[in-house]
Amino acid sequence: MSDSIFPKDFLWGGAIAANQAEGAYLEGGKGLTTVDTIPHGKDRLAVKTGLEKRFTLRDDEYYPSHVGIDFYHRYKEDIALMAEMGFTVFRTSIAWSRIYPNGDELTPNAEGIAFYRDMFAECKKYGIEPLVTLCHFDVPLYLVKEYGSWRNRKMVEFFTRYARTCFEAFDGLVKYWLTFNEINILLHSPYSGAGLAFEEGDNKEQVKYQATHHELLASALATKIAHEVNPNNQVGCMLAGGNFYPYSCKPEDVWAALEKDRENLFFIDVQARGAYPSYTKRVFREKGITLEIEPGDDEILKNTVDFVSFSYYASRCASADMNDKNSSAANIVKSLKNPHIQASEWGWGIDPLGLRITMNMMYDRYQKPLFLVENGLGAKDEVNEQGEINDDYRISYLREHIKAMADAIDDGIPVMGYTSWGCIDLVAASTGEMSKRYGFVYVDRDDQGNGTLARTRKKSFYWYKKVIASNGADL
Ligand code: BG6
Repeated sequence: MSDSIFPKDFLWGGAIAANQAEGAYLEGGKGLTTVDTIPHGKDRLAVKTGLEKRFTLRDDEYYPSHVGIDFYHRYKEDIALMAEMGFTVFRTSIAWSRIYPNGDELTPNAEGIAFYRDMFAECKKYGIEPLVTLCHFDVPLYLVKEYGSWRNRKMVEFFTRYARTCFEAFDGLVKYWLTFNEINILLHSPYSGAGLAFEEGDNKEQVKYQATHHELLASALATKIAHEVNPNNQVGCMLAGGNFYPYSCKPEDVWAALEKDRENLFFIDVQARGAYPSYTKRVFREKGITLEIEPGDDEILKNTVDFVSFSYYASRCASADMNDKNSSAANIVKSLKNPHIQASEWGWGIDPLGLRITMNMMYDRYQKPLFLVENGLGAKDEVNEQGEINDDYRISYLREHIKAMADAIDDGIPVMGYTSWGCIDLVAASTGEMSKRYGFVYVDRDDQGNGTLARTRKKSFYWYKKVIASNGADL
């Protein structure tokens, strides 16, 4: 369309993740993952953050990942719905423990490979490019129990073996890859982010940054392997994005916001620029961190990503006197409440201009193509008597954010595509709820696991179809 600012080959679609959608948690030879042990309910936060160790399942708890939305059995129906909307890209993740059930085996599980081959082939049948995350929060549980997860350098070897297996097995089906979903979430929710559960006496900062070093090495090596297996492969990093605003123009608040941004951007600074950023030494000294770095690690880190992907739900706010009492989590990262913007029912600030600001900052910093791989509004939906879901609030959120992305393109930023989060309703990562819905497609399932799992098109389904058909011109 001539009046569209989006490039002709712009990729439009949606995103899900294995652990929040597939279910079938022990089928096809799959091993347990961290997420399979995170219950719904009051203990969820303590387990997610690694403060309470829970490596065994209990009969008296409900684990939403075990059934998810049953994507494992229903993916053909679901992908057909995505195709009906005109998707040209579909982001999902591979459950590492379907390919390597324990994580440290030498040979992969053929059934797991067959499942993903079939699923990616189903996408290709409709001309949809799969965009595949290798690890979206779900570390094989065995690696956590036996090795302490990413605190152990052996994880680099296990992950790169797994990554190579995927690049080879799905060569010709998948060319867009992400290594770790929201890699910076490791700092904010260590167990769900990276399988880190703390021991008595741990220097938590030390553990988190040592694990970070291992993930950064694994990501760089995976990027290198992806390019060796097929030079057409394109690999991205993935940030839980959203700039921090200073709460006021007081210099101390401005500095606090800059420091908070760096905390998250630190990961991408390494993945996109190939070396630890200049501020690392001072920050590590202040946190009492001494990293174990081996000779040759610096060389490994030079394998930078091809593009920078990120999620954006909300901007954030920081001040010099920010603390646990006056802040709350929006997409897991703590923030002060911004009095100038509205918030969702879950308290996540709604700030489309913040997306343009975030994208400009990221492009100024990295000079690599951007890919917005998660964005959306978690909201409660009602099915009316006619069986319809009139989700105008979702349409309005997405419309404003797509407009902001268009403005960022107008600012001269190369943007590869857009995959809205939870294009089909799925389990919420933060709360484990089904009632926090993001989809264009409604799934009949509630927070306790009741419902038929039937799929229904929402009003936003028809709206997004029109957006895609007009390449973003008709919003
Ligand atoms: C991101 C994650 O943090 O935000 C997703 O990558 C998650 O897995 C999404 O689902 C939205 O968060 P929530 O808690 O509303 O599901």
